[in-house]
Amino acid sequence: MSRTLIALLREGLPAEAVLTDPDVTSAYSHDMASFCEAGTPAVVVLPRTVEQVQHVMRTATELRVPVVPQGARTGLSGAANAGEGWVVLSLVKMDRILEISPVDRIAVVEPGVVNAVLSRAVGEHGLYYPPDPSSWEMCTIGGNIGTASGGLCCVKYGVTAEYVLGLDVVLADGRLMSTGRRTAKGVAGYDLTRLFVGSEGSLGIVVRAVLALRPKPPQQLVLAAEFASTKAACDAVCKIMEGGHVPSLLELMDRTTVKAVNALAHMGLPETTEALLLAAFDTPDPVSDLAAVGALCEAAGATQVVPAEDAAESELLLQARRLSLTALEAVKGTTMIDDVCVPRSKLAEMLDGVERVAEKYGLTIGVCAHAGDGNTHPTVCFDAADPDEARRARDSFDEIMALGLELGGTITGEHGVGVLKKEWLAREIGPVGVEMQRAVKAAFDPHSLLNPGKLF
Ligand code: LAC
Ligand code: ZN
Repeated sequence: MSRTLIALLREGLPAEAVLTDPDVTSAYSHDMASFCEAGTPAVVVLPRTVEQVQHVMRTATELRVPVVPQGARTGLSGAANAGEGWVVLSLVKMDRILEISPVDRIAVVEPGVVNAVLSRAVGEHGLYYPPDPSSWEMCTIGGNIGTASGGLCCVKYGVTAEYVLGLDVVLADGRLMSTGRRTAKGVAGYDLTRLFVGSEGSLGIVVRAVLALRPKPPQQLVLAAEFASTKAACDAVCKIMEGGHVPSLLELMDRTTVKAVNALAHMGLPETTEALLLAAFDTPDPVSDLAAVGALCEAAGATQVVPAEDAAESELLLQARRLSLTALEAVKGTTMIDDVCVPRSKLAEMLDGVERVAEKYGLTIGVCAHAGDGNTHPTVCFDAADPDEARRARDSFDEIMALGLELGGTITGEHGVGVLKKEWLAREIGPVGVEMQRAVKAAFDPHSLLNPGKLF
């Protein structure tokens, strides 16, 4: 079977685009999530054209072989994991920026373009592509679309879904479908574009995207505020949002996270504080906006408020934040990263609850959060070689999701469902919701060949 598969794939792909050496293909078997099943793919294909992707899908449909599309595999839910004998369809070689239009304020890109490469390219035209996951130097736009990724600046600018205007998608049987628009408005038919954002490769293969851009804002300036409790930091977040402020970033790092970042990168962040809040403004007068927010932090009990001197110092603080999850991984070798998003007004309760869970299971759980969005990343640090600790890690990870749902939140703000949260998706959306999601999947993928077994 796999010999036929590979021979047929080779008929429409150049030799170097078909990888079969198990030492090579095994590297494509999973993304960055822990505790997610993964198998060794039969083959990894690296197409460079839409026609080649169509050939791959026609072949897969003919032979009924499952396919998982992949970007840079920086995902955190196992959504990009391969199954045994599957085709991995890596889009990283389709990495051209096809168009940047300052008048239409759009970019047209292939899926393998790296997020930071696009950001820099549009920046040269005075434009801005806001979604900025922490992995932005590596992750691809196709992956961002597949997982509907967020990032640090979403509190002001929104998430990936808000920037995808139109898509070209290769369907399971190889047909090419265009969705959406390149215009500023458009309401022709169902919004299939939005349906594909966050579909985790389960409905089709995105081969081209029209992305909305914004005018490039002024360089943001960051302020760091230290708090003696996470509750006080969350109160500050509420006061800032209630006060009508629009920060371009509002992030929280708890003490465990701060210490982990210092240990990894010697950043010299203050370790005596229970919570560090980072706020930023990219407005014409960031100094006075930061002063107003600094005053609110003090009113909420901040023990220290330190505005960055300049852009370089601001960037350093952001680097510290972006390093948080890597740093927490170094604490015990493995992490399970939760992604629960709650209404901002419930943030303090959420963080209190996480602390209780950590105590109950005797584990270190560091929290960093896109606090302005109520999107928390309670990160369970554990030693995977210790089966008891690993079991407690998994249980605490689940209990944190249950807590998020109780507080009116969602199990995933930006990392997706993948394999990791399959049972939890059903708990969040209920049986009718799952049934309708399955019906949508069946319409696009009647033989269930596109990333089967993910999501639900
Ligand atoms: C972050 C990613 C992991 O917030 O979502 O750093
Ligand atoms: Zn995040």
